[in-house]
Amino acid sequence: MTTTPSFSPGLEGVPIAESALSLVEGQAGRLSYRGYSIEEITGPENTFEEIVALVYDGELPNAARIAEVTADLESKRGLTPAQIEIARLAAQNTHPMFALQAAAATLGPKKNDFEPEMETAQERGMANIAKMGHLVGVIAQAYQGRPYDGPKAGESHSEMMLRMITGEKPSPLHLRVMNALMILQADHSAGNASTFTSRVVTSTKSEPEAVLSSAIGALSGPAHGGANEASLRLFESMGAPEGAKAKIEKMLADRYKIPGFGHRVYHVKDPRSKVIQTLAAEVIEPGSRVSDLYSISLSVEDVATARLGDRGLFPNVDLFSGCVFAAIGIPTDIFTPIFAASRTLGWMANMKEQWESGNRIFRPAQIYTGPKPPRDYVPRAARG
Ligand SMILES: CC(C)(COP(=O)(O)OP(=O)(O)OC[C@H]1O[C@@H](n2cnc3c(N)ncnc32)[C@H](O)[C@@H]1OP(=O)(O)O)[C@@H](O)C(=O)NCCC(=O)NCCS
Repeated sequence: MTTTPSFSPGLEGVPIAESALSLVEGQAGRLSYRGYSIEEITGPENTFEEIVALVYDGELPNAARIAEVTADLESKRGLTPAQIEIARLAAQNTHPMFALQAAAATLGPKKNDFEPEMETAQERGMANIAKMGHLVGVIAQAYQGRPYDGPKAGESHSEMMLRMITGEKPSPLHLRVMNALMILQADHSAGNASTFTSRVVTSTKSEPEAVLSSAIGALSGPAHGGANEASLRLFESMGAPEGAKAKIEKMLADRYKIPGFGHRVYHVKDPRSKVIQTLAAEVIEPGSRVSDLYSISLSVEDVATARLGDRGLFPNVDLFSGCVFAAIGIPTDIFTPIFAASRTLGWMANMKEQWESGNRIFRPAQIYTGPKPPRDYVPRAARG
C-alpha cells in the first residue's frame, strides 16, 4: 500500500538534492563553502576568482590555480556586439533584473541539446560566470544612460564589474568590499529558491543559459534576492534616522514584512549579515547619507529583533547589504543584478552537480483539491 506523503508548503524541510558545495547551519548561524566558514574566506586577500576555484575544485587553490582561474574568466568574458546591444536595449526599457534575465538567455547557443555535452558543464558554467559579470556592467551603464565601456585587459572580475557600474576605477577598499560581497552571495545550499530553480531547469536537460536565465527570474523577487533593494528603499522612505523606530513599530503592528528580516533556515542572525556589518564599518563614511540609512537599518534590527526575535526571526543578509552596496557607489536597481552575478557560481556549480548525480527530472506530486472527476459535460449552448 502506498501512503501519500504529507504536504509541506514551501517544501519546508524537504531535501531536494545531495550537495557537497555549501552548508547552511540554521541554528548555529554558520555558512561554509566546501567546509570553509565565510568569515575565513572574505578577508582582504580573498578574491572572487579564488572562491570560484574553491567551489569547483573542493579545495583552497594555490597561487597558480588562482592565476589559472583568473585568466580563464578573463578569456571567457567577451560578449558579441548583438548581445551587448540587446542587453542595452532591454536595460533602457525594463528593470535591470528583467534586462539581465533576457540578456542571459541570449548567451545560449543556436542548438538546444546539452546532454551530449554534459561533461562540459564546468566549462560552460565558467563562461556564464565570466559573461554575467560583464553583462551586469553593460546593463548598469545603459540603465544610467552611459555609453558602453567594456572590460579592460588585466581587470579582475570584481574590478571589471565595479568600474563598469560606477564609471570609475575602484579604490583598493571598494574593490576589497566588492570581492567580499561577491563571495558572500555566491552560494547558499541547493535549497534556496533560485538554486532550486537552477536544479529543476537542469533536470529537464536544458542548456546552461536556460538554467541561468530561469534562476535570475527566481532571484528577482523581493522574498529572495530583491530584498536588498526593497530594504534600502524602505530606509530611504523613512526620512531622518530619529523617527525610524516609531515607523518600524507601526509597520510591524500592521503586520508588514520587513525586507532583510527573517529566514526559512536561519533562526539566529544570518552569518552573512555579520560579515557585511564588518564591511559597513570599514566603508561607510560617517556623516554621509548612506551612514544615515545604515543607522536606520540598525534601528530596524533593534525594533524588529525585540518584537520578533523570540519567534526566531533575525536580520538576514539583505538588511545591511544595500547600505554597503550604496557606499561603494552602486545604484539601488543594480544591487540584485550583482547578487545574480555572484550567485551564478552557485547556480552553475549546482547545475554540474545535478548532471553528475544522474539528473533525474524533478516531477513532484500535488494534492488535488478540485471537483471530483468525471463531471457531466454540458454543451456550450446548454450552459446558463
Ligand atoms: C525570508 C522569508 C521569505 C521566509 O519565509 P517563510 O520561511 O515562509 O516564513 P513566513 O513568511 O511563513 O513567516 C513566518 C512568520 O514570521 C513572520 N515574518 C517572517 N518574516 C518577517 C518579516 N520580515 N517581518 C515581519 N514578520 C515576518 C510572518 O509574518 C509569519 O508570521 P505568522 O506566523 O504570524 O503568519 C520571510 O521571512 C520574508 O518574507 N522576509 C522578508 C523578505 C526577505 O528579507 N527575503 C530575503 C531572504 S534572504
